[in-house]
This record gives sequence, structure tokens and C-alpha cells, in this order.
Amino acid sequence: MPHHQSQLYRPCVIWFTGLSGAGKTTTASFLLQALQQRGLPCYLLDGDELRKGLCCELGFSESDREENVRRIGEAARLLMDAGMITLVAVIAPMRHMREKLRARFAEGEYLEVFVDTPLSVCEERDIKGLYKKSRSGSLKNFTGIDSRYETPLAPDIHLKTANTSIDNNMDQLIKMLVAREIVRG
Ligand SMILES: Nc1ncnc2c1ncn2[C@@H]1O[C@H](COP(=O)(O)OP(=O)(O)O)[C@@H](O)[C@H]1O
Ligand SMILES: [Mg+2]
Repeated sequence: MPHHQSQLYRPCVIWFTGLSGAGKTTTASFLLQALQQRGLPCYLLDGDELRKGLCCELGFSESDREENVRRIGEAARLLMDAGMITLVAVIAPMRHMREKLRARFAEGEYLEVFVDTPLSVCEERDIKGLYKKSRSGSLKNFTGIDSRYETPLAPDIHLKTANTSIDNNMDQLIKMLVAREIVRG
């Protein structure tokens, strides 16, 4: 049921997957702002932040990454059940992890956003200096370098950031949310 007649919305989970530096946090933060401006209840779960708390004992082995994704997926479900449009900015590198996630949701409740930026561009950006650390060998199991990232085969929306502006991507995202009847046009 919509909250207000004028502001139809449907709680769901919108998961941003992509390499480190691809633009998950940036894009999700812009969308969060746009939703807040419409007065919609929304929340952003960001992988880097959650690793300090909810997931603080987990590392970057494949099994720890799997548990990280599972746990954040469950947290996202709870927020959705509480009525939030829940945005998640977490790499979720393997297909089987993302498939398990999707399986926890009903049709239309879980939307996958592939933030697709070439590794070379992410490495050029290197906002957190992690690619440099990884290349020098002081950081192990870094996604895209010595830990695998499996590109989504059928994301709900495929965004590029290397040659596409954040505004353009925001338009695409809002259009998708309108088409899925999550927000009103
Ligand atoms: N079109 C774009 N969309 C999103 N981010 C972009 C874009 N163009 C450049 N950037 C920059 O790329 C970086 C992405 O970083 P971030 O969002 O933290 O990545 P992630 O959360 O995926 O690790 C930011 O410094 C952002 O300003
Ligand atoms: Mg981020």
C-alpha cells in the first residue's frame, strides 16, 4: 500500500554491485538523496561501513565474502520489511552469492544494479589507494586483482560510469524504478 496517495512507493532492495572504485557508493548516495527529496523512506547500507560493525569479524576470503553478502542481504530484507527502499553498495563479487541473495526475495523485491567500470578506470581513480597496495603485494585478496569478480549476466539495470555522467545514470535509475512501480514518475 502506498504511504500517501501522491507518493506511491514500494519497499524493495536495490543492490549495487561492481568493482572497488566503480562508483557504487557515489551512485547509491545520489539515488538516496533523490528518494529522500521525494519524501520516501529509504536507507543505504554501505559495505565499507558495515565492515566496521555488523560484519567486523569478516575478512576477504571467499567464504567470508559469502557470509558478508548473506548477512547484509538479511539486514536489507529486514529494512525492506520495515518499509524502506533499501539501497546496498557492496561488491558481492561472485554470481552464486548474488543468486542466493535474489532467491531470498519475491519477484520484483530485489533489483540488481551493475555499476560497470573497467578495472583500468577503477585503478586509475584509486580513491582509497587500495589498487596501489594490492599491486605492491601489501593487500591480499583484492577484487579484480587477486580475487575474482564475476560480471552480472542479467542485471536489472546496467550502468556505466567511465563515459556516462552521474546525472545520466540517475535518470536511468529513476526510470527503472518508475517502470517497476517502486516510485511514481
Ligand atoms: N559517472 C560516475 N558515477 C559515479 N562515480 C563516478 C563517476 N565518474 C567519476 N566517478 C568517481 O568515481 C569514484 C567512485 O568511488 P566510489 O563511489 O567510492 O566507488 P565504490 O563504492 O564502487 O568503491 C568517485 O570518486 C566518483 O566521484
Ligand atoms: Mg563504496
